[in-house]
Formats: sequence, C-alpha cells, structure tokens
Amino acid sequence: MIITLGGVKGGEGKSTLATNLAICRSTKGYDVLLVDADKQRSASDFTLARKETLASSDTGYTAIQLQSTAVRDEVQHLASKYDDIIIDVGGRDTVEQRAAIAISQVYAIPVVPSSYDLWALEQVASLIEEGRAFNPSLHALCFLNKSPSRGKDITDAIALIQDLTQLTYIDAILVDRKAWRDATAKGVSVIEYIPRNPKAIDELWALYNTLFDPQLDTKHKPNRRRQ
Ligand SMILES: Nc1ncnc2c1ncn2[C@@H]1O[C@H](COP(=O)(O)OP(=O)(O)OP(=O)(O)O)[C@@H](O)[C@H]1O
Ligand SMILES: [Mg+2]
Repeated sequence: MIITLGGVKGGEGKSTLATNLAICRSTKGYDVLLVDADKQRSASDFTLARKETLASSDTGYTAIQLQSTAVRDEVQHLASKYDDIIIDVGGRDTVEQRAAIAISQVYAIPVVPSSYDLWALEQVASLIEEGRAFNPSLHALCFLNKSPSRGKDITDAIALIQDLTQLTYIDAILVDRKAWRDATAKGVSVIEYIPRNPKAIDELWALYNTLFDPQLDTKHKPNRRRQ
C-alpha cells in the first residue's frame, strides 16, 4: 500500500506520523519504504536521530529522499519491491505533494483543530479533486492531530471536515501529548518511547488500523478500451 501523509499547512504532524506509522508497520513484519519528499528533510533527520539512539543502522525500515516528479516515477518503480511505501511531503502545494497524490492509495491528512488549519483544508480539497483526475480511486482521509482531549473545538472541527465532500473524516483523534515531541527528539516512535504513554500508543494504533485497512488497498485499474 502507498500512503502519503499530506496537507498544505506546516506543523500538523505529517513527518511525526509518517515515521511513527513506518515503525508500527515494520514491527508487524512488513517491509516498509519511508520516502522523504520534503526539502526540509524532517523524516530523514528523524532517521538519523534513530540510528544514533539505536546505535545501529537497522532502523526497521528503508529511508530515501525523493524530489520533484521522481516521487511519482521512483515510487511507482519501487512499489513492487516493498510491502508498503509511506511518503512524507512538505506542508505546501508542491510538485512532490501532487506527485504523491497521483500514485497513493491513501492520502492521510492530519489537521490541528484550529481555524487557520481547518480553513487550509479548502486548498487540500482542491488538490484532491485535481489529483483524482489521475487517480480516481484515491482515499483521502482526514483526522485530528495535536487535539485537545475534549471540547467544542473538536466537534466544530469535525463538522467542518465533514462538510468537505472531497475527503472523508476518520474518527482517530490524536491528542496533543508531550510524549510525541519527546519520542521524536530521540528518533523513536511513541510505541517505543520510555516512559510509555499508553494513551498516545493506543491513539497511534487506532490510526494505524484505520489507515492500513486492507480494503483501502485498491489499486487503480485503467478503464478497458472499448472494442
Ligand atoms: N499528537 C501530537 N502531540 C504533541 N506534539 C505533536 C503531535 N504530533 C506532532 N507533534 C509535534 O508537532 C511538531 C510538528 O510536527 P511535524 O514536524 O511532524 O509536522 P509536519 O506536518 O511534518 O510539519 P511540516 O509541514 O513543517 O513538514 C513536532 O514538534 C512534533 O513533535
Ligand atoms: Mg514535515
């Protein structure tokens, strides 16, 4: 399955979740390729920190950097060599983000439940609409990250997301917890980080189970040519 963590705002948690999901997937025995398609190279920096912390080059996944349309071409080329490919893109409308949308089965959009972040979803919806011209079976799934644990901000955000017909709201809320920042600083996933934060871990697995649903792993089959 090819999953892109995307969106057009910075700091929503794309790199954090791309790296954490890559680790979750690899602990389940899958051969995972993590593609860093952001010039800021956060996912690559995470992998470097990980190698230092683990004192090993065996991070559990393979990591590469790709830019421009190589995101589309190389990922398509590598798709048969890995069980799963997870792509981390920058928080802007870039060639890389469009290329990733064109070849992913799942486009996962973390969003912080605040006005500026939610307003930017209109732009994401347009990207999805344009991407579906090339990739009609794309599953665009939006969820809350860095969320308060309860309150009106959550229900308001969900209502706003559900108004956008181009994407689907998924009920996997990840609450703003310090454990995420502490784990990232060490290059480890929240499932590995000590002291354990059971709530953060449960929330990550809930997201994992929704995104890696085998039913979403539908590859686009080109329309048969009429005889
Ligand atoms: N659920 C969470 N709780 C607390 N902090 C979080 C959570 N998710 C991510 N963060 C923190 O938020 C910050 C931004 O996350 P991250 O770099 O993953 O965002 P991004 O969407 O990749 O940003 P960019 O668009 O710049 O690439 C990081 O410090 C990260 O540790
Ligand atoms: Mg990032």
